[in-house]
Amino acid sequence: MTYASTITIDALEADPFPIYARLRREEPLIHVPAANCWFATRWKDIEAINRSADFTAASEDAPVNDAFGRPNVLTSEGAVHAELRGGIEPHYRPRKVSEYIGALVRPIAQAQLAALRASGDNDLMAGYFEPISALSLARSFGISAVDVATLRRWFHGLSEGAINFERDPARKAICDRAVAEIEAVLIPVLDRLRDAPDGSPLSHLLHSGMEPGQTRPYAQILPSVKVTLLGGMQEPGHGAGSIVTGLLMNPDQMAALRADLDGLLPQAIEEGLRWIAPIGTMMRTALRDTVVNGVPVPQGTAISLILASANRDETRFPDPDRFDIFRKPKSHMSFGAGAHFCAGKWFAKAQIEIALRVLFEAFPDLALADGPPAFKGWEFRYPTSLRVTL
Ligand code: HEM
Repeated sequence: MTYASTITIDALEADPFPIYARLRREEPLIHVPAANCWFATRWKDIEAINRSADFTAASEDAPVNDAFGRPNVLTSEGAVHAELRGGIEPHYRPRKVSEYIGALVRPIAQAQLAALRASGDNDLMAGYFEPISALSLARSFGISAVDVATLRRWFHGLSEGAINFERDPARKAICDRAVAEIEAVLIPVLDRLRDAPDGSPLSHLLHSGMEPGQTRPYAQILPSVKVTLLGGMQEPGHGAGSIVTGLLMNPDQMAALRADLDGLLPQAIEEGLRWIAPIGTMMRTALRDTVVNGVPVPQGTAISLILASANRDETRFPDPDRFDIFRKPKSHMSFGAGAHFCAGKWFAKAQIEIALRVLFEAFPDLALADGPPAFKGWEFRYPTSLRVTL
């Protein structure tokens, strides 16, 4: 019996890092029955698979296909991928982001801060980071009239489908309800954009590259809209929560950061995203029989590339479980790699930076209220709540 065959989804959800550490040591490329796929846990194997023409992101087995439908940007390749990505990407390129991010995010962060103060409930996840993340993405994407409670319900619901490796009907039902609600709101918006384009990513997805008077069919774009809504609304907020957790658990690092916010904030953000990868995995499938660093991989094998484990590979990051903003800078894998690397990377980092600045400037004595928060998840990992004293 392999160690991998004893792994359960519950154990991964609770704390995947000791499991990944053992897999990296003993069974780095191995079938994990509970997850219905193989796991690759070492940096060099993940890098090799990502670079290899023997693997595709067009995985039949990815839960995201069942949850959101196809074609979607994550599990398409070639011309279809380029077309879908091209509809989303232009609005999120670095120079474009720098033109609008401050005016978009700062007022949202300041309003959330006021709401957090007024509520008296000092949970930074539900009361600050998740709302900023959801509202910033929705407004940048072309969805302005949906309130924050609805947007949070949407991404929590979508995420149940995207992580449904075990094909749990209860998870599917939650996701299906979110999808139905999203379509009921978005289809009238798309109807309007069809006749009156407005330059938003939603509008761009509909019109870009089409003949005059023609628009892309909704079924072609809705699956990628759901992918973007999920990743875009959920991950910056979850990433920010993990970064602040790392800082507040290490008051010496927090003090150093406060003394040089401009100089150290970017590396604090990178370290927090390395320490806890908000998206823990990427799915790839072997197109033919192949060999990865000496391990035979049969055609059709679905492999989950465990980004969260690559980020803690001790051959690249010494003492990898330690949160350390002074670590020697080295790139991590939290935004993926290759043709499918995150289209929202610059938007996400700029948004997190603003949310953290507004928070730290308002509360010079910010501290954890109840000790270190509980984290949850392996496919998506985040503090379930982050209670602080302001
Ligand atoms: C800290 C925040 C974020 C993290 C950690 C993150 C992480 C990732 C990762 C790991 C992938 C690659 C998935 C794969 O190859 O299977 C990805 C793809 C993607 N992300 Fe993000 N993401 C974040 C924020 C965002 C935001 C704000 C947007 C909104 C524009 C976004 C849009 C996308 C899209 C559209 C893709 C698909 C790209 C493709 O398949 O070509 N992400 N993201």
